[in-house]
Amino acid sequence: MKTMKAVVLDKVTEASDITLSEYPVPEIRPGWVLVKVKAFGLNHSEQILRLNEIRADYIQKPVIPGIECVGEIADPSDSGLSAGQKVAALMGGMGRSFNGSYAEYALLPRRNVFTFESDLSWAELGAVPETYFTAWGSLFESLHLTEDDTLLIRGATCALGYAAIQIAKALGCKVAATTHRAEKLSLIQTADETLVDDGKLTGKLHGITKALDLVGPRNLRDTLNSVIKGGVVCQTGILGGVYTLNGFDPIKDIPNGVYLTGFFSNYPTQKIMTEIFTFLSNHKLTPVIGKVFDFDNIKEAIAAQDNGRINGKIVVKI
Ligand SMILES: NC(=O)c1ccc[n+]([C@@H]2O[C@H](COP(=O)([O-])OP(=O)(O)OC[C@H]3O[C@@H](n4cnc5c(N)ncnc54)[C@H](OP(=O)(O)O)[C@@H]3O)[C@@H](O)[C@H]2O)c1
Repeated sequence: MKTMKAVVLDKVTEASDITLSEYPVPEIRPGWVLVKVKAFGLNHSEQILRLNEIRADYIQKPVIPGIECVGEIADPSDSGLSAGQKVAALMGGMGRSFNGSYAEYALLPRRNVFTFESDLSWAELGAVPETYFTAWGSLFESLHLTEDDTLLIRGATCALGYAAIQIAKALGCKVAATTHRAEKLSLIQTADETLVDDGKLTGKLHGITKALDLVGPRNLRDTLNSVIKGGVVCQTGILGGVYTLNGFDPIKDIPNGVYLTGFFSNYPTQKIMTEIFTFLSNHKLTPVIGKVFDFDNIKEAIAAQDNGRINGKIVVKI
């Protein structure tokens, strides 16, 4: 049997206990494609899976985590794709209900695998699928962002925040960005206005037409009060550690004439992935990366994610 190196989890696992195991290369089947993984980004949701969510019944165990990757088609099965073609894959249960990308090969449903054209390196490409799809979907599908908007990005010092600043600035918007750590203000200087978020933004910002909230339910009421009448708030992140809002009173908590939306990255499409790679190419943008690790150093990559000292997307290349 052909084997590959993979991270395989069956219980809550601290970074210090991460190892690479020998695991069977998955067998191809109709409707799925085998991808030779070249790079993958680390995500907050994988950390949540590894440290807690893995206890849930709906998680396949053992599981190879990893909700995204870029790579080459190793076996196209009946997909119509060609061997060697460059692809990006993300979500749809990847790394949760079926094995994900922390491996040399990943067997992935055709519907979650997307082709693209790009001159970026594999490491740079590894920073794109989940982060840029989520930024793009939040900004355009949910917030209907235009160049006339003034956008607030709350909790901007995360991979998604840096990507959202980059896209919004390239579009021509005015951007205000926050961090909860004063020492990180320098990391968001590409925004037009930056401020330290002490949990109360109401009254401190003016003319915000759209808000991308990455801190989440902990401060959502305050974000809703930080946009102008007619403004839209998109709830996408949960960095604040509060995941749902009990006692939310829409009548009183959503100001009159303010709109609340959300974004869930579970439904990527070829059309949107093509738009993202075209936008990056047309605007000559390089994805914002914090640090690149080799697959053999996956334990260090995950430890770096846990200690939160890397600013920007952590990418692992194989
Ligand atoms: N809706 C969706 O489908 C979707 C998709 C992707 C991601 N997300 C969510 O979007 C958020 C960002 O994801 P990511 O992968 O870009 O994260 P990430 O790069 O892993 O960033 C994590 C870092 O965010 C920083 N952070 C910034 N503001 C924070 C705050 N107010 N409270 C706590 N930490 C804060 C923390 O560093 P410091 O404390 O040093 O600042 C932390 O190390 C996460 O909540 C993630 O779950 C949602």
